[in-house]
Amino acid sequence: MTFVQGPVRATVPATSANLGPGFDTLGLALELRDTLEAEVLDGGLVVEVSGYGEGQVPLDERHLVVRAMRATFERLGQQPAGLRLSCTNVIPHARGLGSSSAAIVGGVWLARELVAGGRLLLDDAALLDLAARLEGHPDNVAPALLGGFVISGQDADGGFWAVPGSVDPRVGAVVFVPPTPVETEAARGLLPDVVPHGDAAANAGRAALLVAALSSRPEELLRATEDRLHQEYRRPAMPESLALVETLRADGVPAIISGAGPTVLAFTDGPGTTTADALLARCPAGWEAHSLAVTRPGATRAD
Ligand code: HSE
Repeated sequence: MTFVQGPVRATVPATSANLGPGFDTLGLALELRDTLEAEVLDGGLVVEVSGYGEGQVPLDERHLVVRAMRATFERLGQQPAGLRLSCTNVIPHARGLGSSSAAIVGGVWLARELVAGGRLLLDDAALLDLAARLEGHPDNVAPALLGGFVISGQDADGGFWAVPGSVDPRVGAVVFVPPTPVETEAARGLLPDVVPHGDAAANAGRAALLVAALSSRPEELLRATEDRLHQEYRRPAMPESLALVETLRADGVPAIISGAGPTVLAFTDGPGTTTADALLARCPAGWEAHSLAVTRPGATRAD
């Protein structure tokens, strides 16, 4: 196995998972991208982080991107003698916008690029499976890797799959990011082991409708984003976020908890209906709001 000489740069998008009814299966890539650069060295490990996580995340083998790179080199058969990694992070951490999936996808993608002929040894399906195993569920890593809207899941044998869906060009998003983080593990810990059959059936129908609404029927987004499986259970960890979702939905805006929260995502569906400017004006005090396009490319090479 031969390593590529010189640095390789990649950008990886933020993602919003669940999208209301699609718990652990639906995800959307958003135009907010971390940039990562990696290079094989003769020895040692150098990790630099700027932006989110700077001064907080460990700059050694515990760094999430490094762990993802190590797992990928392991799968490809050889670790490099040394490694340099530089991360420029603009995706907020622990807010439900897929920062850990962006780190994992960035790591597996960069490691594959650093191996000569890496794409022949590990195709996108294998890379997705590896990234989802590291993350534990596929709904953020799939759109982070593939871009756009992606339906993903896990087979009975443990393997992960992903199928891209289409998104009507009128559809965009405004995200409302609260100042306080919520760790995904804590948000998952609030979910019950068992849910009523009626709730599961309602979500199945809404998730199916959401695929159609996103692809060509954005006027159905409000009904299609109803959820009964996770958002309400998570209210104790993010009461202000649930309150904002309720207020927006009461006004006809298709709003959901993004991923495991606490960010709120509201869909925009074109001029004359739900516009980004009108939504940005509804940002609660102390929160950040951003209008973000759905991004087509997933992880990709950067100049
Ligand atoms: N589907 C996941 C959850 C997304 O809601 O816990 C967060 O990683």
